[in-house]
Amino acid sequence: MTSFNVKWVIIASVISISLVAVSGQACVRVEVPMCKGLINYNFTRLPNKFGHTTQSEVYWALQQWWPFMDMGCSQNLRLLICGLYLPKCTTGSTQVQLPCRETCRRAKNRCSQEMQRQNLPWSSQFRCSQFLPKRSRRCVGPLKEKKKKKSRRRHVTCQRNHLPMCSGIGYRFGSLPNMFLQSNIREMKREMAQYQPLLDTNCSPHLKFFLCGVFMPFCLKQETSECEVPFVVPCREVCESVQTSCGQIFERQRGGLPWPGKFHCHRYPSRDYTRNPNDCSVSCVMPN
Ligand SMILES: *[C@@H]1O[C@H](CO)[C@@H](O)[C@H](O)[C@H]1NC(C)=O
Repeated sequence: MTSFNVKWVIIASVISISLVAVSGQACVRVEVPMCKGLINYNFTRLPNKFGHTTQSEVYWALQQWWPFMDMGCSQNLRLLICGLYLPKCTTGSTQVQLPCRETCRRAKNRCSQEMQRQNLPWSSQFRCSQFLPKRSRRCVGPLKEKKKKKSRRRHVTCQRNHLPMCSGIGYRFGSLPNMFLQSNIREMKREMAQYQPLLDTNCSPHLKFFLCGVFMPFCLKQETSECEVPFVVPCREVCESVQTSCGQIFERQRGGLPWPGKFHCHRYPSRDYTRNPNDCSVSCVMPN
């Protein structure tokens, strides 16, 4: 190597090292789909205490807890889990904030039984004593819990679908909870809003239909007079066409995150081509 080249190599490495140092301190937007827009802060900083350096790594670690976050056993469970893996970052502060001990305790009180029932004991990573108490003012405090009765899963059968994204898709009625056991409309609205930038790219004409049918499965009862099917999701074929058209754009928009597990197409029933479309035993629908 000539001395000229060596000099440039040295300069380039100094620049890249200082870039890493700076970006290591900058707050970045929370992007993982189970947390983005669903917790009361927007910025985090990696690496976290598990050594994850990208949100894709965090995504894979959080995926197993996603159903519990959606189940709604506690307002604080999502805050606890997201907060542990993607601690709150505040511009100008060198320290990130983890959830408070109280946040953890409320989540544990409400959710540990339900998890136990599904053979998942309260994980040792969620040990509440590891967290600072709220009075330290250096942690993310607890949210108020809803009354237990109210937080119980709401069942809705064939109600008007008022999700803002879902107007004009041809199906006006839906049922809840969805296949992820979500029934909190406000939370679903916020979760769906994550996909607005993807919708804005017009990557697929069926994206809106797909999202709406996933979050609030369609009810065919009110749409066609003969059928009484209250719960129908979009067909796998719609899912596949949406993923093919939008998957890479999603990845680019969200800093390399994989296509969310909720939208994995094997979850959705395949269209039965032999069946008469007016047959009432349909399990999935295609866009009109
Ligand atoms: C987080 O970002 C969203 C969308 O940009 C915004 O509506 C919301 O108010 C922000 N939340 C906080 C706590 O700053």
